[in-house]
Amino acid sequence: MLLTLQALQAARCGVSKPKLLSTRPLFPEARAILDANCEVEYWQHPERIPRAELLKRTAEKDALVCLLTEKVDEELLNAAPKLRIASTVSVGFDNIDVPACTRHKVVATNTPGVLDDTTADFAWTLLMAIARRVIEGDAWLRSGTWPGWDLDQVCGGDVWGKTLGIIGFGRIGRGVARRAQGFNMRILYTDAVRAPAEAEKELHAEFVDRDTLFREADFITIHVPLMPETRHLICKENLDKMKRTAYLVNTSRGPVVDEAALAEALENRKIAGAALDVFENEPKVNPALIPRKDVILTPHIASASVETRTKMAVMAANNVAALLKGQRPPNALNAAELGLK
Ligand code: DGY
Repeated sequence: MLLTLQALQAARCGVSKPKLLSTRPLFPEARAILDANCEVEYWQHPERIPRAELLKRTAEKDALVCLLTEKVDEELLNAAPKLRIASTVSVGFDNIDVPACTRHKVVATNTPGVLDDTTADFAWTLLMAIARRVIEGDAWLRSGTWPGWDLDQVCGGDVWGKTLGIIGFGRIGRGVARRAQGFNMRILYTDAVRAPAEAEKELHAEFVDRDTLFREADFITIHVPLMPETRHLICKENLDKMKRTAYLVNTSRGPVVDEAALAEALENRKIAGAALDVFENEPKVNPALIPRKDVILTPHIASASVETRTKMAVMAANNVAALLKGQRPPNALNAAELGLK
């Protein structure tokens, strides 16, 4: 067991509880876990914690619960010499420099699994909404200018029977494939690693190279983590390969899509539309995308059901609680590197 864990246990048995900063008040279920184990400071303000405050308030803390909007990097780790765990309330952990955490003997944790179905539901929601022009139709009706039914109004593209292209065939990508079964679709996927034959069979999914997927899919949905290899995976070159009638859906990470290239592709009618839940420079969105009717923009809410967000916060709290009890946090990202048993 790590010395760091022993130190934390000692602190726990001694006069004071370990100190924790949570950059959000979280949900009561998660607060109950944290409050039972630590002396917690919650950032209560409606605005995001400013970086300087984060550095200042983490300085004397043993543990940090943060969101994907807070960066845990070398600077923060240097400013927080007592820190033993950085627990992000997200499955994506591109906000955490995990190797730097390992160097500082800080356990980094995330919240995998609990949001897969909710996120797959939402990718599917966006796919249907962009194909069938739901937002456009709603806006037209509310504007008071709809003259009543006509034959060629707000005609979109069919979903059923089309080809679905899934980039990233992990838990969420497979969840999207599972939902496609009822739509009689051809399902293509691409990933760095091919899925087991049983998964392909169960989901009627065909492993193809990226080029084939870009050229043949009517809907492309992205489910990859943000890494150097996936940054701007959706670039001009790949957009050019897509069908003019195809749609793009992104619920992964914004920088996977080159927003400027996407705006240009839409302007030149190289693809039919896009639905984006995540953006390159959140909360900013490329201004060229905003007025477009062939784009749906949602504020990073793919996992935003009350049930799922609560589970994520509880999971993040349990990761901290485990460490403070001298156990291995269930979702430690650098367990092997730190020799956690
Ligand atoms: C995540 O968890 O990484 C999502 O982007 C937010 O739920």
